[in-house]
Amino acid sequence: MGKEMRFDSNPSSLHKQNYVFCVKFAVSFLLMGLVFRLFFSDSITLSSLIETTTSPLADQKTEPLPVSSPPVQTLSAFDFPASETQTSANETIKCDIFKGNWIADPSGPRYTNESCHVMEAHQNCMKNGRPDSGYFYWRWSPRDCDLPKFNPRSFLDKMRDKSMAFIGDSISRNHVQSLLCILSQVEESVEVYHDKEYRSKRWHFPTRNFTLSVIWSPFLIKAAIFEDINGVSSSEIQLHLEELDRVWTDQYNNFDYVVIAGGKWFLKTAVYHENNTVTGCHYCPGKNLTELGFEYAYRKAVHLVLNFITGSEHKPFVLYRTTTPDHFENGEWFSGGYCNRTVPFKEGEVDMKDVDTVLRNIELEEVEKAATVGSEKGLKLKLLDTTQLTLLRPDGHPGPYRKFQPFAEDKNAKVQNDCLHWCLPGPIDSWNDLVMELFVNADKYD
Ligand SMILES: *[C@@H]1O[C@H](CO)[C@@H](O)[C@H](O)[C@H]1NC(C)=O
Ligand SMILES: *[C@@H]1O[C@H](CO)[C@@H](O)[C@H](O)[C@H]1NC(C)=O
Ligand SMILES: *[C@@H]1O[C@H](CO)[C@@H](O)[C@H](O)[C@H]1NC(C)=O
Ligand SMILES: *[C@@H]1O[C@H](CO)[C@@H](O)[C@H](O)[C@H]1NC(C)=O
Ligand SMILES: *[C@@H]1O[C@H](CO)[C@@H](O)[C@H](O)[C@H]1NC(C)=O
Ligand SMILES: *[C@@H]1O[C@H](CO)[C@@H](O)[C@H](O)[C@H]1NC(C)=O
Repeated sequence: MGKEMRFDSNPSSLHKQNYVFCVKFAVSFLLMGLVFRLFFSDSITLSSLIETTTSPLADQKTEPLPVSSPPVQTLSAFDFPASETQTSANETIKCDIFKGNWIADPSGPRYTNESCHVMEAHQNCMKNGRPDSGYFYWRWSPRDCDLPKFNPRSFLDKMRDKSMAFIGDSISRNHVQSLLCILSQVEESVEVYHDKEYRSKRWHFPTRNFTLSVIWSPFLIKAAIFEDINGVSSSEIQLHLEELDRVWTDQYNNFDYVVIAGGKWFLKTAVYHENNTVTGCHYCPGKNLTELGFEYAYRKAVHLVLNFITGSEHKPFVLYRTTTPDHFENGEWFSGGYCNRTVPFKEGEVDMKDVDTVLRNIELEEVEKAATVGSEKGLKLKLLDTTQLTLLRPDGHPGPYRKFQPFAEDKNAKVQNDCLHWCLPGPIDSWNDLVMELFVNADKYD
């Protein structure tokens, strides 16, 4: 089937998508829904991973898995909004800090699994037995300007009496852990809050009175999720496309800095509600509902989120982070896909997967529109466009080392790979170089 099919990166062409495309995507999204259910859920044990690979599929009459068909790829010709930066001579140059390459960095990781105490087990690749460490020795280097390495001391000084929040799914939690690990070189944080499931947390840095939160809101909008602690779903997600998730909006006025992100959870099977009626769904065969497509829901959600942000009296500095790429090769998560590369790709060596292109284009368009509206009201809203640069790091995922010593008992053990989240230390640390540059040195980019 349409293996060679491409669609260009202009989302308006999505409306012209044909039947083959729909079928292929519908099938793969059902399956992808599972990986995200697994990987974006918390407290997953290996046994639950194995159980959930079969049971949810069993009650959905799907075709056989497209085991080895490679992901549909698309050309990566994007035009990024360029930022301005300054040289020491105050001469402004055009610099897109999201375009460049990973360069060798012999100085290595900024922290270790010994110095950082907040690292969750799934991210602790060294402890879990990952044998190679070459992936520590790379630094993101924009093509047209220097990106300073994150300076935890000056970051914390800048954040005195401030409050910062990361809002999103488990990738946002991955990101906040990286930040906590980097900051722990200068000051240890004190955990002051966690929710029942340990998905949302808050830390305080007493010396600077800096508060850092992570808020688990995978859809950013109101969602009823029927998953148990192991990520096993008992019913379709019910998504309310015209209501925001109050878990973050209720706290929004407390924050001075916000890094917000969405995306991957929209690939799951879900029923869409608007104005108290069911208007359709995404991948719900047998339900006699209109397939509206995940991009329909995601665009509405991003729009709603950004409307709230631009309409709010409270004006924190907001970064919207773009979707995060995965690197499953020769299969997907459920069919033996793995990610055992040990060096980064070079710019242009890899194409973005279609889903990421779709999600990111929505993000780029909606953020650009909202930033224009926001700037008239004095709101700082910027993209944290990490998709493309992170796509170049297939070497930074836990792979089988999400689990402690997966091959200790059997060298040939079959282990579910995690090619979506990031090892700590790892490439995601560089996201914080970008966050710091955008937040702390924002004036350079105005
Ligand atoms: C360059 O920038 C510095 C600091 O922003 C300022 O003090 C200085 O006057 C500027 N020089 C010129 C030539 O604009
Ligand atoms: C850190 O990683 C090393 C392997 O590099 C491992 O031996 C050690 O147990 C780990 N320590 C912690 C606290 O995770
Ligand atoms: C700490 O920072 C918060 C704002 O994040 C502020 O409301 C509070 O007064 C500060 N506390 C002290 C002791 O300065
Ligand atoms: C829902 O209601 C709002 C106004 O109340 C309207 O603008 C919108 O078009 C409605 N949406 C749908 C899908 O009917
Ligand atoms: C599916 O929905 C349509 C419109 O709501 C209705 O006319 C049709 O009878 C339904 N089909 C089944 C099999 O329920
Ligand atoms: C990755 O795994 C595949 C399949 O086991 C193997 O053929 C390949 O050589 C491995 N690559 C690296 C870099 O280890």
